[in-house]
Amino acid sequence: MKEFKNKVAVITGAANGIGLELSKEAAKRGMKVVMADIAENDLNIAFDEVKKISSEVIKVVTDVTIFEDMVDLSKKATDSFEKVDLFFNNAGVVVPGPIWEIPNKDIDYIMQSNVYSIAYGLKVFIPLMMKQGTPAHIVNTASVAGLLSSPGMPTYHMTKFANVGLSESVNYQLRAINSNIKMSVYCPGFIQTDLNHCDKRRPKRFEIDKNDPYYTSQTYKDGLKRADHVINTGIPIDSVGMSVFQAIEDEQFYILTHPQYNPVIGLRVKTILEGKNPDISIFKK
Ligand SMILES: NC(=O)c1ccc[n+]([C@@H]2O[C@H](COP(=O)([O-])OP(=O)(O)OC[C@H]3O[C@@H](n4cnc5c(N)ncnc54)[C@H](O)[C@@H]3O)[C@@H](O)[C@H]2O)c1
Repeated sequence: MKEFKNKVAVITGAANGIGLELSKEAAKRGMKVVMADIAENDLNIAFDEVKKISSEVIKVVTDVTIFEDMVDLSKKATDSFEKVDLFFNNAGVVVPGPIWEIPNKDIDYIMQSNVYSIAYGLKVFIPLMMKQGTPAHIVNTASVAGLLSSPGMPTYHMTKFANVGLSESVNYQLRAINSNIKMSVYCPGFIQTDLNHCDKRRPKRFEIDKNDPYYTSQTYKDGLKRADHVINTGIPIDSVGMSVFQAIEDEQFYILTHPQYNPVIGLRVKTILEGKNPDISIFKK
């Protein structure tokens, strides 16, 4: 997609961080913008911010873990703007902690927020875009955590590897049928957003059970501290909109914005191909 003016962008997770930045960039480029998020108050504030750039913006309170909400989002987008040209399947969360200690609720929460949401988004928006038949583009937000693994946040890696695999396979299917829909998978490293505070925006059914001792444990506190550290030392948010839109213009499938991780991705692949075992010492340097 080279021309954005008067086209329609739908963005999930639009109330904060990357989603808000993408909403602002879409508005700056003359697009009609549909901002979707579960956090109504945050969404109202973010909406007012984007409204200052463009009058053609709507907001839709959406829980991406619920398929019917995704359908409702697509209907509200087409009711207002008739079509969808660009879809950012972006909302996501993080859950720290070792797999053998975290409550099952946390596993369900991260799987539904980061994996089911992406699958639901593709299920709803691909047929709609196919029917339109005009050039369209979908960007799935994964992470560099979907291309390499580390000892921190294993369930996050679990979901982000799933995002990359799903995006690659669906992209092959779309290319095989010469589809009008292009696809990208966005794999950034750490960025200063509000991701470390995602617990305050959990859907009701995944809310933290204050009676569960895990959530007062040192493990949980250490996990939160680590999340604070990596997000607060990430790159500033302001380059995100430009770099992602440039990649869409260039029809780039893999969008990588943190070159410092490329050697680690390369080392992982080399280790696999050479039949070696993962070496923890690379994380101790
Ligand atoms: N910040 C980083 O360092 C980083 C790095 C790589 C990938 N990512 C990914 O980027 C995406 C956006 O994260 P961010 O860093 O901007 O975080 P953020 O917390 O600042 O923004 C995420 C937004 O998603 C919304 N959200 C969460 N669950 C939702 C749900 N069920 N339904 C609808 N909206 C929901 C939140 O309310 C929030 O507004 C995520 O998929 C995240 O995994 C972030």
